[in-house]
Amino acid sequence: MTTAALSPLEELKRKIETRQARVGIVGMGYVGLPLALLFSGERFRVTGFDIATDKVATLNAGGSYIVRILPEMIQKAQGAGFHATADYSEVERMDVVIICVPTPLNEYHEPDLSFVTSTVQAIAPHVHDGQLIVLESTTYPGTTEELVVPLLEQGNPHGLKVPRESEQQGVHVAFSPEREDPGNDTVARHDIPKVVGGCGMVASELAGALYGAIFRRVVPVSSPSVAEMTKLLENIYRCVNIALVNELKQLCMRMGIDIHEVIDAAKTKPFGFQAFYPGPGLGGHCIPIDPFYLSWKARQFDFRTRFIELAGEININMPRFVIEQLAEGLNRAQKSINGSKVLVLGLAYKRDIDDLRESPSLTIIELLREKGATVAYNDPFFPTVGQGRHYALNMTNTPLDNLGEYDAVVIVTDHSTYDYHAIVEQARLVVDTRNATKGIDSPKIVRC
Ligand SMILES: NC(=O)c1ccc[n+]([C@@H]2O[C@H](COP(=O)([O-])OP(=O)(O)OC[C@H]3O[C@@H](n4cnc5c(N)ncnc54)[C@H](O)[C@@H]3O)[C@@H](O)[C@H]2O)c1
Repeated sequence: MTTAALSPLEELKRKIETRQARVGIVGMGYVGLPLALLFSGERFRVTGFDIATDKVATLNAGGSYIVRILPEMIQKAQGAGFHATADYSEVERMDVVIICVPTPLNEYHEPDLSFVTSTVQAIAPHVHDGQLIVLESTTYPGTTEELVVPLLEQGNPHGLKVPRESEQQGVHVAFSPEREDPGNDTVARHDIPKVVGGCGMVASELAGALYGAIFRRVVPVSSPSVAEMTKLLENIYRCVNIALVNELKQLCMRMGIDIHEVIDAAKTKPFGFQAFYPGPGLGGHCIPIDPFYLSWKARQFDFRTRFIELAGEININMPRFVIEQLAEGLNRAQKSINGSKVLVLGLAYKRDIDDLRESPSLTIIELLREKGATVAYNDPFFPTVGQGRHYALNMTNTPLDNLGEYDAVVIVTDHSTYDYHAIVEQARLVVDTRNATKGIDSPKIVRC
């Protein structure tokens, strides 16, 4: 069979198989950039789109702005044809476009889909027949079909439609959730099964072929809404279970029981139990945010997602609980938070990563300042920290060489580079929210 005789579906599948398919990835952030490198490593020619021109310039200069992505990795991808751009007209040359832009909450705790909307509006004038568009941004069920599809259909100048059944002509649209676990290198990215739900049969088949070239296992589901809901179930499951252990931790403290010893014992059960760990509150771009995408959507169906709301309430209060425990610790030394010098250890929302988004450390620092403490921080990943969504810290990293001058050290993020024995030895009071001082016996430690 000659190439000319191939159907649009067969043609794109052939391009994917032979690695001639050009892959555009929109949003060169924590999700999009590693994904671009993954495709590039599989010999696809990849174009990274981003409106942040500083990111585009850094990438094109062979640099990186994400700690775990080394400049050498960008340069290797460049050698395989990778480049970045802020020019959406390049979408015309792409066979596949994958959207990985932010999906935050607005000030009323409601979904903010403005990034997805503006992205789709920007690419719509440049889409072409037979192209595959995949949304990877986490969102509520219905977004792909109710928002992305109409914007693409209305915004393209060729009157192209998005096929819902088995039609081959048109722009094919799918949703495939991202399952990255930043800082966790135990599972290789391509070993994480990839869930895919297409708007029509052709979209499902194409998206399956595309991700099948990268991931060992593709999990096809019957629609984009199922794929969208799958991602939310995964994150709500984490959010609810973390809230459960956070609540039980508070009870255990009153009862004089070590929750970590309990969890360690419980997880020896070979079935029916998965360990979750308490902490100072939720952080990151996913777990504190995604569940509320579903609560919001549920209201359209006159439904209240009570587990999500309760879990949110418990988790949101954890930074306040940490402050209470600090106050208790200081009280033992006849001190108050007001007037104390406090060092917050670790800013990132979890261990060994350079991501500050929604980190409980931000709330803890703000609460401490409100109560009159003088606050410093140490985090090897953040030499300085200025202003961002919901915070204005404007602080500089403090070295760990004089811990004795602080009234208390609060361990918020248990980075693996810290020497916890030395920290406990030098500090006057240590409030440990992560069980980082496990095995260290000292009256200076308040574990919470
Ligand atoms: N970070 C994670 O661990 C993770 C895991 C799973 C899912 N997700 C989801 O993936 C999505 C992306 O998250 P992220 O962490 O990569 O966000 P990010 O903020 O790190 O990156 C998003 C990028 O998109 C760019 N951008 C914004 N609007 C744009 C536009 N109109 N056109 C082009 N680029 C645009 C931004 O400049 C930024 O570089 C979100 O929906 C998030 O919920 C993230």
